[in-house]
Amino acid sequence: MKSDEIRSRFLKFFSARGGSALGGEGHKIIPSASLVPGDPSVLFTTAGMQQFKPYYTNPGNADKDFGSRNIVTVQKCIRTGDIDEVGDATHLTFFEMLGNFSFGGYGRREAITYAYDFITKELGLKISYVTVYKGEGVVPKDEESKNIWKELDSDLEIREDGKDVFWGPTGDSGPCGPTTEIYCKNADGQDVEIWNIVFNEYFCEGSREKLDRGEANLKKLDILGIDTGMGLERLLATVQNKKSVYETDVFNNEKTKDERIIADHIKASLFIIADGVEPSNTGRGYVLRRLIRRAVRFSKEPLTGQIKKIKKVYNGMYALDDKGEIEREENKFRETLERGMKEFEKGIDPFVLATTYGFPIELTLELSKEKNIKVDLEDFNKKMAEHQKLSQTASAGMFKGGLTDAGEETTRLHTATHLLNAALRLVLGNHVTQKGSNITKERLRFDFTHPQKMTEEEKKRVEEIVNDKIAEELPVGFVEMPKIEAEKIAVHSFNEKYGDIVKVYSIGDEKTGYFSKEFCGGPHVSNTSELGKFKILKEEAVAQGVRRIKAVLI
Ligand code: SER
Repeated sequence: MKSDEIRSRFLKFFSARGGSALGGEGHKIIPSASLVPGDPSVLFTTAGMQQFKPYYTNPGNADKDFGSRNIVTVQKCIRTGDIDEVGDATHLTFFEMLGNFSFGGYGRREAITYAYDFITKELGLKISYVTVYKGEGVVPKDEESKNIWKELDSDLEIREDGKDVFWGPTGDSGPCGPTTEIYCKNADGQDVEIWNIVFNEYFCEGSREKLDRGEANLKKLDILGIDTGMGLERLLATVQNKKSVYETDVFNNEKTKDERIIADHIKASLFIIADGVEPSNTGRGYVLRRLIRRAVRFSKEPLTGQIKKIKKVYNGMYALDDKGEIEREENKFRETLERGMKEFEKGIDPFVLATTYGFPIELTLELSKEKNIKVDLEDFNKKMAEHQKLSQTASAGMFKGGLTDAGEETTRLHTATHLLNAALRLVLGNHVTQKGSNITKERLRFDFTHPQKMTEEEKKRVEEIVNDKIAEELPVGFVEMPKIEAEKIAVHSFNEKYGDIVKVYSIGDEKTGYFSKEFCGGPHVSNTSELGKFKILKEEAVAQGVRRIKAVLI
């Protein structure tokens, strides 16, 4: 059975079910949402439920918006959390999720029965085992699901599990609840998670990280929500009896890990571009850039061949025209790679390669291995540690300036510093990075990388932008997120060791676009309207390639 057929059988199966016998409506087919979600607290659509998040708390709106409480979709998804595992049999950064959803239309019995029937009867697969939630804290053990599974198949193995079978929320708050997962064996005899059936019974007022740390409350929702997700590629591998997702008809039988990484990353890039994202140094654009660059690193051949193959796979299903974007990014990065390679060949120290040429140590190690050169990793690590210690000292100094005295004036200047940083990057370019900052009650001082003196026009332009942003009365807020996520969306000035969870301060909102996103401890004003008028007093050199601005708020 090919991917086309699976997609349409899934949609048909659910649009025919949920009728009167089960006390609900048939499932309404809704198209995939964009990979760029409406929810500002997540970068990409990572699950089918993303576009339906609000309906779990306001189920009545589903009647208005869809004419139904029961929905079925095939959703495009991006997940970069498992990027290091891409290339194995089951992990991907782009995948399609088959899902059925209900906002109070039906409950556990129907959701589990539909899944059981689709897997065993419609597709004729054998379930290896299922999991149910064992209960923790305020959430009780899911006895009901366990009993339903037993009734459906008394021989079925049912495993009880904890955190792993409690799902969500996505982003900084949202619906969540216990799940029951279905596992099937692939052609290698490995158990693969095929379907995740979430019972959204709670609303979490905080992120998943907070929930896991015991810092977020769970509030019972008015209705029991259903949110299920089945990875199309994994399902295909099982149905088509293949050892990996790459042997199914949504890939081209890539064999080596490198080939698989390239195929996955270029596929993800094409889909992200198709939803309107361009490579850049922040947010989604940065994730896209990293995916393309990573593909380039693994590919000796130009990426055009790969792009053509992927377009062919999805021909007639999804429009994937990147208008040459991937090739442009590829060409730029191959130049950087080439320059770095020259230095590498000269035998330049891996530490200098990494810090001056942006050449990742993994790449130095890979290349060295090919050429039978030994790398003194211990020496590299030692130098990196010293480097980081220096940066830490520098940043401690910076925070001292801004944070020990958190009076009103310094708080306002602190927010102005973020505006200045973003405005400099706009006017001078993305090479601008913060080298230091010192704030007194009277003025801010900001050091940044830039090769030459700023012109009068440039200074004026920067002042104008900052003052415009003040006039726009933009909200200032922060979210806490894992550092690895934060690095993808925010600028940060130092190589220092942040904790695993960091604060990202943003200025602006989703509607008009965020003007600034920075790692920062705070504090900040809550709206730029509190700042007054911004004025640059002085712009001067402090070191080779480092400039200093002194500015005030009047
Ligand atoms: N939201 C759940 C998941 O992503 C089920 O769709 O697995």
